[in-house]
Amino acid sequence: MTSVDKRMSNRLKMIAESISSCSLVYDIGTDHAYVPISLLQKGTCENAFATDIKIGPLIIAKKNIQNYHLEEKITTKQGNGLDVVGDNPECIIIAGMGGILITELIKNNINKAENTKQLIIQAMNAEEIIRKFMLKNGFSIEFEKLTQEGNKIYNLISFSYKNSVNDYLEYEYFSSRYLVSNNNILLKKYLKPKIKRLNDIIKGQVITNTIDMDIIHIRNKLEEIVNDC
Ligand SMILES: C[S@@+](CC[C@H](N)C(=O)[O-])C[C@H]1O[C@@H](n2cnc3c(N)ncnc32)[C@H](O)[C@@H]1O
Repeated sequence: MTSVDKRMSNRLKMIAESISSCSLVYDIGTDHAYVPISLLQKGTCENAFATDIKIGPLIIAKKNIQNYHLEEKITTKQGNGLDVVGDNPECIIIAGMGGILITELIKNNINKAENTKQLIIQAMNAEEIIRKFMLKNGFSIEFEKLTQEGNKIYNLISFSYKNSVNDYLEYEYFSSRYLVSNNNILLKKYLKPKIKRLNDIIKGQVITNTIDMDIIHIRNKLEEIVNDC
């Protein structure tokens, strides 16, 4: 059987490579279902649910699953976020969505997020919102990764619930303590667009005379980190 990996971007490969071996994985917002297909092909997990809120992506997912002869191992399911997840999921993936939506999906079913051994989040933006919410709600960051496609850097965070106390400083929700302390090679490229976005906010605040010193402090800390890279 041909490997689905040939169809997968660096971002999708990063997601699949981050999953620990498990019996059942849920891929929320699966679209093409390439990630669960890859996990089954590699034997990383035994069974998977490929879920999506829309029927269109699920039709494509089903077709791909059939093409790789995995229909007995991967079940497609239509539904909103973690509503479709069973009570004790082993691994949940939420990838390719914005950080605000991902945070909402977790908030709506926080007990299921707490009960999973591994929660893999690959947000397209606003990771700081996810880090802040998760760390304030007892989750720990197991690891983070970055990968590059063209000029774009993609982040991935692996969370697990430890009922831990959060000691992050505000700027670390943006910079990622894990990526900084591991001297991630793509850190500078990851932080530069965040600094630009903060600078744009600060410029707007100067015009409207609503300057927020906290944002200036975060921007300054990110610049320090980038200069040290
Ligand atoms: C950009 S695609 C990402 C697909 C894949 N996870 C990836 O990383 O390439 C986002 C998918 O999430 C689905 N989606 C959006 N909101 C959702 C929700 N609330 N619950 C489940 N799926 C959702 C969309 O229909 C779409 O198929």
